[in-house]
Amino acid sequence: MSDERIGIAGTGFYVPEKVLTNADLEKMVDTSDEWIISRTGIRERRIIAPGETVSSMAESAARQALEGAGVAPEDLDIIIMGTITPDEPLPSAACLLQARLGNTTAACFDISAACCGFIYALELGEKLLRGGRYRHALIIAAETLSTVTDWEDRDTCVLFGDGAGVAILSKGCDRGDILDCYIGSDGAYSSLLEIEAGGSACPITHEVLNQRKQYIKMEGNKVFKLAVSSMVSSARRVLSQTGLTTEDVTWLLPHQANLRIMKAVARGLKIPVEQVYINIERYGNMSGATVPVGLAEMDHNGILKRGDLLLMVAFGGGLTWAASLVRW
Ligand code: ACO
Repeated sequence: MSDERIGIAGTGFYVPEKVLTNADLEKMVDTSDEWIISRTGIRERRIIAPGETVSSMAESAARQALEGAGVAPEDLDIIIMGTITPDEPLPSAACLLQARLGNTTAACFDISAACCGFIYALELGEKLLRGGRYRHALIIAAETLSTVTDWEDRDTCVLFGDGAGVAILSKGCDRGDILDCYIGSDGAYSSLLEIEAGGSACPITHEVLNQRKQYIKMEGNKVFKLAVSSMVSSARRVLSQTGLTTEDVTWLLPHQANLRIMKAVARGLKIPVEQVYINIERYGNMSGATVPVGLAEMDHNGILKRGDLLLMVAFGGGLTWAASLVRW
């Protein structure tokens, strides 16, 4: 294993142009702007246009990140994509992104860890670079949750949006030093958040489509409680692994699923809410993309300063959980 630093050399993000507001949703289901804002913190979300896909969003975000990092697409050794909404079941969205970027040699694969996709991919990428053989990894989470959302189900359709976020990991980079990650999961909770149809257990048929099983179903209340407890414990775990405490944290960047969840996590960790990066009002829950989109915004807007300690934390379908500590 190499002792060389593995750092975040560049970041990028893309969100579609089309904005879907709470007022738009009021015309689609029995809901209200007031309910959505007070229960979730979301005001609007972005939705792909016809022709846009996970790999097309990924390309825009990736080109921005590569340019910032000063890394040429052909120099990428690895592309890891966190997504539950790839363009197609086969090939991987990572391979489709690779082709769009014109890279012909990198090892490319997708991982399915829902909202934890980015931090899972970060952990894998960092460990692969540390192994010694590779130099540059493109770590991405991109999601078109709008394509698996039941737009007649008010319990879920007000929550989700589309987007993509990227980090370029480079060996020897002295910025965005990845101190440690922690990832875990418990499949016993798998039914709390699932898309039943489209896999080997329930292939798509006309009957299945009529039953609307191709869409996300969620037990919101149960997920809410597990989200808070799993994010708090993941954050504590990664801090203890590195001998740091919540008092050392400059910024908390949590998965943006619900403003109330983020505030409860901050309370649980005793981190003042002013130190929590929040953009859920503009994008909703973009699954794994929320953390890297937030990271790219913090980077590009100069919010992250050299020496800052950034704590990223997420939970998602699976149930999965993940946390990462980065010294900027
Ligand atoms: N508009 C108006 N009323 C609504 C809406 C809506 N969009 N949705 C639900 N309601 C109603 C319910 O029917 C219920 O009515 P009732 O009291 O008459 O039965 C009432 O509002 C309260 O419903 P709850 O489900 O108790 O509301 P809650 O405060 O728990 O908020 C929410 C629901 C926002 C879904 C919350 O539970 C939540 O955020 N859960 C976590 C979701 C999450 O984080 N998912 C992440 C993973 S996504 C992924 O991995 C891809």
